[in-house]
Amino acid sequence: MTQKLYIKTYGCQMNVYDTKRMTDVLAPLGFERTEDPADAHLVILNTCHIREKAAEKVYSDIGRIRLMKEKRLENNGDDMVIAVAGCVAQAEGAEIMRRQPVVDMVLGPQTYHRLPDMLEKVAEQKKERRTARVMDTDFPTESKFDHLPEEKVVEGPASFLSVQEGCDKFCTFCVVPYTRGAEFSRPVEQIEEEARRLVELGVVEVTLLGQNVNAYHGTSKAGNTVSLAELIARLDKIEGLERIRYTTSHPRDMQDDLIDAHGEIASLMPYLHLPIQSGSNAILEAMNRKHTTDRYYDIIERLRKARPDISLSSDFIVGFPGETDADFEDTMTLVDTVKYGSAYSFKYSPRPGTPASVMETQVDEAVKAERLARLQDLINQQQFDYNKAAVGQTMRVLLERPSRDVGFLAGRSPYMQAVHMDVRKMLDGKPEEEYTSLIGQFAEVKITGAGPNSLQGELV
Ligand code: 5AD
Ligand code: SF4
Repeated sequence: MTQKLYIKTYGCQMNVYDTKRMTDVLAPLGFERTEDPADAHLVILNTCHIREKAAEKVYSDIGRIRLMKEKRLENNGDDMVIAVAGCVAQAEGAEIMRRQPVVDMVLGPQTYHRLPDMLEKVAEQKKERRTARVMDTDFPTESKFDHLPEEKVVEGPASFLSVQEGCDKFCTFCVVPYTRGAEFSRPVEQIEEEARRLVELGVVEVTLLGQNVNAYHGTSKAGNTVSLAELIARLDKIEGLERIRYTTSHPRDMQDDLIDAHGEIASLMPYLHLPIQSGSNAILEAMNRKHTTDRYYDIIERLRKARPDISLSSDFIVGFPGETDADFEDTMTLVDTVKYGSAYSFKYSPRPGTPASVMETQVDEAVKAERLARLQDLINQQQFDYNKAAVGQTMRVLLERPSRDVGFLAGRSPYMQAVHMDVRKMLDGKPEEEYTSLIGQFAEVKITGAGPNSLQGELV
């Protein structure tokens, strides 16, 4: 019997990957995805704990889902199982269970291979009462990756592939070491097999994922420890896999072989997300980042030597405890100096259990807001300038998905810019609806226009 599954994904790309894998785990049980939670037998909220706002959203969503569940029961007596997964579940699982009686199941990011067992327990408990109380937020000794079924479907020609998880660096602002656990690298051959299967299913571009992806140090069957650069070189040999990206990196793990790979491996795309968080050495130290701005500048110089057209991106936090006006100006100067293709910036959000949250020098919300606005103005301006410089160039773009308008497709430039393309020419008089059959192909695209967040182009 098929049952409907609704999963909402919050936060980062790792969660997008996990959502896909939870879908794979549930498919053999007869679960099919739906976009409508009201229609679902099983609702999973795959949550993010990184900032307070993301975490709060989960609680309001649980409230909305509860009303849908009640309506379903009223309408036709159909039940709905409500599960909270991901990083909020990991961090606040017991509290969710206590505060939200409607939640049947809580599971962490490392236990979703056990979903079938958990669902059995839920069904068992539901024979006796309205909501179940099943919780599994272990960090199991077995790896979930050894227990996931083969993927049978892909969601497009570009796919995420998780290679590393967790973090041992303990930046003082960050919950990831607590929610995702200790650093772990998947074995090399397991990753190669997954990549080959994805290619068989039509994938031509993979983004290797890890919270600290460049700390990757997987073992191979031959017993060697393999670096991220070596892993990329091995994946580069897979026929049909045309493009490789990786995210998110830490400056401390930016080894020479990885920098060199950017100049040597053609399938490795000229884009790197390398967060520095702040341009002030004092703040970097208080954040426990364990590197200086000089070290970062040095890495960037060497990257640009290896791959002169590389596009750089970063994350920034403003208003970290103790951040003075001068510290903030240092961040503005750094952004001004590096010239990013894109960047993300956030107000510091104190997270329970992290060292920075109890520092006495918390910055006023109004000051944070003002700094964020100034930094975002600068970043937006840089991003727009970067996009404008692409106009007139011809780029090879992967046609990934339908764009907003009929006859248009969307994809990404080698530099990670979103590109919206007019593909009507390529149709040769075929009906317009057929334009989606082009998805999965690469096209030479002339960039004809630029906005702050995307490019427009025409096929040549
Ligand atoms: N407050 C604000 N931003 C944060 N990030 C991580 N933790 C916090 C926090 N407590 C940001 C960092 C990180 C990105 C994923 O989220 O910039 O790189
Ligand atoms: Fe959110 Fe970080 Fe967890 Fe990703 S790893 S889901 S960004 S808390």
